[in-house]
Amino acid sequence: MFGIRSGGATDRIESWEIVSRLEDLTHRFLTQRAALDRAVELIEPMAGIVVELGLGKGRTFDHLRERLPGREIHVFDRELSCEPEYAPAEEFRVFGEIIETLPAFRRRFAGQAVLVHSDLGTRHRGQDMPLVEFVAENLDGLLAPGAVVASDRPMVNAPWVRLPELREMENFPYYMYRKQG
Ligand SMILES: C[S@@+](CC[C@H](N)C(=O)[O-])C[C@H]1O[C@@H](n2cnc3c(N)ncnc32)[C@H](O)[C@@H]1O
Repeated sequence: MFGIRSGGATDRIESWEIVSRLEDLTHRFLTQRAALDRAVELIEPMAGIVVELGLGKGRTFDHLRERLPGREIHVFDRELSCEPEYAPAEEFRVFGEIIETLPAFRRRFAGQAVLVHSDLGTRHRGQDMPLVEFVAENLDGLLAPGAVVASDRPMVNAPWVRLPELREMENFPYYMYRKQG
């Protein structure tokens, strides 16, 4: 069964590619693993908290906590929709609509985040952009100098430097940025 690729980035993929959903998900997971591993390397010497926007099934959160033992990781979502063992302790869960929860979190942890992974996308890429713009606007005050942002959607309004693409991103685009130190 073939479907229309739902994960292609509008700014990189000029024509729609037909790939199976299995293939698309495989590319997505490989890209996410590569992006998160690169981000982890970059922030390794820095002290600060990590933020996961979009806990979902807990896949990327679980990867981050495995790679960053002992690091405080705060996760955002509307509600818990994964097995509790793939979510952090309750004190690190920020549940509710991000447009309501992120501004207060940014004020509380101003300048303390060294890594933010934003994985809020839906199958309707175009419709995701207003939320992504809101997130990018609200993240800057949360980030420490030198912090890394990895995102499943381009944050075109963000004031950070775009990091080079990784090989895996040829098949599933992802966007990495660094706040200048
Ligand atoms: C693509 S999934 C995240 C997948 C997850 N990172 C994983 O690896 O399993 C996106 C998540 O973002 C959440 N989300 C999307 N828009 C949101 C919003 N406005 N406020 C809070 N959560 C939101 C959804 O509920 C969903 O669980």
